[in-house]
Amino acid sequence: MNILAVESSCDETAVAVVKDGRTVLSDCIASQVALHREYGGVVPEIASRKHIEAIYGLADEALVKAGIQRENIDAVAVTYAPGLIGAVLVGVNFAKAAAMALNKPLIPVHHIKGHIAANYLAYSELEPPFLCLVVSGGHTMLVDVQDYTKMKILGTTLDDAAGECFDKVARVLGMPYPGGAALDRCAKLGDEAKYVLPRSKPGENPYDMSFSGLKTASLNLIHHAQQVGEELDVNSLCAGFSAAVSDTLLPRVKMALDQTGYTKLAVAGGVAANSRIRGDIETLAHEKNILVYLPPLHLCGDNAAMIGAQGYYEFLAGNVADMSLNAYATKSIIGEEM
Ligand code: KG4
Ligand code: ZN
Repeated sequence: MNILAVESSCDETAVAVVKDGRTVLSDCIASQVALHREYGGVVPEIASRKHIEAIYGLADEALVKAGIQRENIDAVAVTYAPGLIGAVLVGVNFAKAAAMALNKPLIPVHHIKGHIAANYLAYSELEPPFLCLVVSGGHTMLVDVQDYTKMKILGTTLDDAAGECFDKVARVLGMPYPGGAALDRCAKLGDEAKYVLPRSKPGENPYDMSFSGLKTASLNLIHHAQQVGEELDVNSLCAGFSAAVSDTLLPRVKMALDQTGYTKLAVAGGVAANSRIRGDIETLAHEKNILVYLPPLHLCGDNAAMIGAQGYYEFLAGNVADMSLNAYATKSIIGEEM
């Protein structure tokens, strides 16, 4: 089954063709990052407009690269939530038009489920159930992936997402948006013991996390150094910050593995590209003798192939939409009523 998949929830316009949920025939992305960089973050209005400009050409490109004709598309999958509402709407409207014109089913896909499904593209043997640590620009959560479409959230950040926090600290350090990857590169050159930053333990649910205290402590440290004219060791601050993020995530992952008894752990989302987190996850996997699934870097960030992968399993579960499909800025991965 060939699925034409569409993703436009933030600042990447993406269209892919995915066969049977596992094989990427094409994966085209038009990134807007350079445009938003001059504003230090995503400008929603600009994002929506650029999605409209890019999406038609990208869809043609995706078909050409896949080496197939429109008639060979069996369904159209699209991110319908969550994301910047104007941006998501562009993809949803395009997908509706494509599904109607091709007379094929329309499959709504939750963006975070898509990130989790990126692992199916990289690891053909991976099947639920497994534990997944989702760390993206907008979300941070520990998910019990019980089935391809049925999931349970064990814990979530109560405030900022890990990626948001990486980007904010990077911005104050003068790194261009989105600064997570640049901060990661600096961290590799620093001494993490030089600046010890807080690891918070919020709320009653031991799986819940918080990153806003870490963000504030990091920003205060930077501003204080600037005010008293003290030279900051930026690499070491980046190392200390990355260590604090990883030390917030890892104990919860460990606890969830112990509680669920799962021997398979996947990581998903843009921050899954972080070298410190990847290293710590590998170490944990070795200690606990479990299988670990880390998507290759090109599948960590936003892309449409992951939407095609999840779309396939949504279709098999009977989750198709009609032309009344709407876009949503926020929606949980559980109880996805439309
Ligand atoms: O999953 P994603 O593409 O967007 C959302 O769905 O939210 O994640 C983007 C996030 C950004 O915050 C970016 O800075 C972060 O992933 N990121 C990283 C790294 N590469 C990307 N954060 C830390 N270390 C990295 N190497
Ligand atoms: Zn994403």
